[in-house]
Amino acid sequence: MKVFVTGGAGYIGSVCTEELLNAGHEVTVYDNLSEGHRSAVDRRARFVLAKPEVDGDIAQAVQSSRPDAIMHFAAYALVGESMSQPGKYFHNNFGNALKLADAAVACGVKKFVFSSTCATYGPPDRVPMTEDLPQRPINPYGESKLMFEKALIWYRQIHKLEFIAFRYFNAAGASEQFGEHHRIETHLIPNVLFTALGKRPHVEIFGTDYPTPDGTCIRDYIHIKDLAQAHILGLAPGKEGFFNLGNGDGYSVRQVIETCQRLTGKKIPTVEKPRRAGDPPRLVAAARKAIDELGWRPQYPKIEDIVRTAWDWHVKHPEGYPD
Ligand code: UFG
Repeated sequence: MKVFVTGGAGYIGSVCTEELLNAGHEVTVYDNLSEGHRSAVDRRARFVLAKPEVDGDIAQAVQSSRPDAIMHFAAYALVGESMSQPGKYFHNNFGNALKLADAAVACGVKKFVFSSTCATYGPPDRVPMTEDLPQRPINPYGESKLMFEKALIWYRQIHKLEFIAFRYFNAAGASEQFGEHHRIETHLIPNVLFTALGKRPHVEIFGTDYPTPDGTCIRDYIHIKDLAQAHILGLAPGKEGFFNLGNGDGYSVRQVIETCQRLTGKKIPTVEKPRRAGDPPRLVAAARKAIDELGWRPQYPKIEDIVRTAWDWHVKHPEGYPD
């Protein structure tokens, strides 16, 4: 298929682009490089430098690449920032996404694949979390993604735009070639590995008084290549709707740090800090739906494999991408 990938220079988009190409698809990456990196774009892909703020730019880019499918990764994704700059999140994650959906309709695109998030649920009533839980986001980031999920339902009904939306849990790990390099790094695993590399003096543990066995937050870490595989399966005709992507296993912040320490053989000093605003104590996916309906089979479900691939990438690229 011809696939138009927005955000293909970002962390998740770069690995999905690579896996799409490996599977024989033809890819156009559309990215404004505000968060992404030019050198994270697989050389086999066609690259278009995006200017989404210019009228008609998105529509023209879609029109000129005539894709069968669109995968929409491009978005702002910092929960904390969204609490101070909500407009930034609604304009890009909702407003620009609508322009893309309109372009998809205008060009007769067969499938729209959307990167959503477990942040659309807010703090869950129960874990593991199934797709039918109520969605009550507690930050503009989650709200902006939920608004676009809802828009997609109407576009499906009115314009017959077939879509699949994946609600990611905690993406982590790396492929051989592409890994995680955010300009501002806030995520746990890279921060712990930077400490192992000696780039940071210690890891801060945000909150040790949560109602969890060791008092730290529990998350469901999912390997980036497994995420990518789900997207490829989602391209098949008739695969539609909302799917959680996680492993169904929760690991606490302390367990992640211990795993990193064990696998890297490095001492990782920690400093205990107060809770970070907006962190739910426990987020764990029930991904049965993706397994049953898409035939998704995660290849790297173990936290050790996830951390090992991330570590290999950071050791090879201690400064991340050059650009
Ligand atoms: N944490 C630390 N120290 C750090 C970094 C994180 O203790 O240096 C803790 C956090 O407080 C949290 C856990 O580690 O309890 C995981 O934090 P991350 O920032 O790695 O991931 P989040 O669960 O906060 O965020 C993930 C995605 C986001 C998405 C969010 C939705 O990475 O992009 O889920 O809830 F928006």
